[in-house]
Order: sequence, then C-alpha cells, then structure tokens
Amino acid sequence: MRFDDEAKTWDEKPERAERSILFAERLSGLIKANDYKTGMDFGAGTGVTSFRLADELEKITLIDYSSGMVDEINKKLEQKNATHMEAHCLNLLDPANALPEKYDLIYSIMTLHHILDTERLLEVFHQHLNPGGMVALVDLDSEDGSFHAKYPDFDGHLGFDRSDLFQKLKNAGFEHMVAEDFYTIFKEEDIEKSKPYPLFLIKAQKQP
Ligand SMILES: C[S@@+](CC[C@H](N)C(=O)[O-])C[C@H]1O[C@@H](n2cnc3c(N)ncnc32)[C@H](O)[C@@H]1O
Repeated sequence: MRFDDEAKTWDEKPERAERSILFAERLSGLIKANDYKTGMDFGAGTGVTSFRLADELEKITLIDYSSGMVDEINKKLEQKNATHMEAHCLNLLDPANALPEKYDLIYSIMTLHHILDTERLLEVFHQHLNPGGMVALVDLDSEDGSFHAKYPDFDGHLGFDRSDLFQKLKNAGFEHMVAEDFYTIFKEEDIEKSKPYPLFLIKAQKQP
C-alpha cells in the first residue's frame, strides 16, 4: 500500500506539517469555544494534528487504514507516554468496526478524497458523534486530476465541490454547515511555476 511505503518518511515534508499544525490551531479554537473533551482523527497519517491537540482533549482516537502510519503513531505515543491517545488500524466504513465510543469532535485532513463512498463516510461520522458534536474536514477543492498525477493508480475523488459536500452532509443528518478557504498547496518549489491547489475547511454540526 502506498501509504505504508511512505509512512516512515511522511513527516519529512515541512508543508505537510505546516498545514496539519494550522489545522490543529483552528481545531483548538473550536475545542475551547465548545468545551469539547474527546476527538477522533480520521485518516490520521502519523498523527501530527492530534499530537498538537494532546493537551486540549481528554481522549483522542486516531484511525488510519495504513498499518505503517499506525506504527509511526504508536512509536510517538510510546515516546510521549500519551495514555489518553490510542491508534487503530481499521476500516471504519465496515459496520463490524463501529467503535463503542462517541466523540465531541471528528476531524480529518486530506483523507476525504481517498474514500470513494463519501455518503457512507459522512453517515459513519454522524453515527460516531455525540449530540451537538462537530465534524471538521479539510480537503481539496475540485481539481483537474493533476494533483495525483504521480500516482496513476489513484482512484479517489478529484477534490470536491463545496455545495455538493454540503448537500451530502445534510443528507447524513448534519446542520449548520460552513466552509472557508483554509490553505493552498503548491507542488513545485517555485510558486510562480506551480499550479495552486486550494483546500477548504468545512465544519458541520450534529443536532444537540
Ligand atoms: C494524504 S494522507 C493524510 C494523512 C494526514 N491526515 C496528514 O494530513 O498528514 C491520507 C491518509 O488517509 C488514510 N486512509 C486512506 N483511506 C482510508 C480509510 N478508508 N480509512 C482510514 N484511513 C484511510 C491513508 O492511510 C493516509 O494515512
């Protein structure tokens, strides 16, 4: 699996950490404003966002489908002795893997476009939230397919149309959807030569 191969060197790209840290800052504001206590990081990668939130939540569950990524998270958990955080390698879309807990906040960065069945994923998020809980999603706005040009076997989404995602969130039971511009990825070091890939941050709430 591609992510297993990349897991050990995932943290070496500074722009990945930059956007994960920025995301954690935004989540921190939401946690404080709503007095959230528990969180789930879906498609956590090596856990950069969640480790930034370690002191702000009483429990954090990190989910990733790649055992290589989960191994990297577990190494960090051991080093930091973070007993209130746990990582699971599983496919949350399989009903057999539904978690016993519900969370105040479910967050995910750059994973949504890898999941083919967006409708099912949003239902699963809704199912795993406490009443009044929130989902916060960062992902690519619609793009022309060039974002994954280096990965010819990529079969996920070419970004998302924000209003289409709003409708899917509504269908899954969410309300109070808001979207904002979050970050822009430039793949080439020379920004003038690089195509911009804008990312959105969409938040939506489960009814209290
Ligand atoms: C582009 S990476 C983003 C990782 C991390 N959120 C970050 O921004 O550094 C996408 C992650 O989603 C995970 N992923 C893909 N499909 C998944 C699924 N069905 N369930 C859980 N994780 C999945 C991959 O293993 C990978 O770690």
